Amino acid sequence: MKIAPSLLSCDFSKMGSEIERMDKAGADWMHLDVMDGHFVPNITFGAPVYKTVRRYSDKPFDVHLMITDPLRYIDDFADAGADIITFHVESDSPVEETIQKIKSRGIKAGLVIKPNTPASAVFPYLEQLDLVLVMTVEPGFGGQSFMADMLPKVTAVKEECRRLGIELPVEIDGGVSEDTIAQAAAVGVDICVAGTAVFKAEDPKKAIAKLKSLCD
Ligand code: DX5
Ligand code: ZN
Repeated sequence: MKIAPSLLSCDFSKMGSEIERMDKAGADWMHLDVMDGHFVPNITFGAPVYKTVRRYSDKPFDVHLMITDPLRYIDDFADAGADIITFHVESDSPVEETIQKIKSRGIKAGLVIKPNTPASAVFPYLEQLDLVLVMTVEPGFGGQSFMADMLPKVTAVKEECRRLGIELPVEIDGGVSEDTIAQAAAVGVDICVAGTAVFKAEDPKKAIAKLKSLCD
């Protein structure tokens, strides 16, 4: 299991050193939540901020766009150093065009679904994608409770991939903790985003190691 700490839970006054701290703690990816106050009822930061902190780790930067028109901002996040850009199927941007735009910049493309969206919403795009992200909370805020009833969607995506003869990593985001991660591992989740569970831990290195050990 890969662990991607969500910077949403970091101390924003020292974001660079928070990224270094997660790098040293054994984070596999850095997860960057971009919110526009329109697609979700919260605002974080955009590409100019992430560009300034990119140099604090060599780990892949996994950018989760919770914005109404992701297509318009792909170049900005590509220029900022994103390695993976994930956008919502529920956004206003044309899905195929947005995937192709991301890939044209040499970046991995991910598609994400909110809790009320069925897994089948991503099926038409699986062969073009590098990642599927299944939200296990309503997007917008860290620290919410894990929605275990989203896990059958992971199984559904995996089954559809098998039917198509492709392999695609599936990530989940929201409410991942020592109490919930084993359920995710059991259905074959490949990457878990974890905000509160890692950043609020006394020792993030131990927290990440513990989360991973619970998946064995
Ligand atoms: C929610 C974000 C998540 C969030 C996860 O909209 O996409 O990445 O920060 O935080 P926790 O792990 O605290 O639920
Ligand atoms: Zn996220």
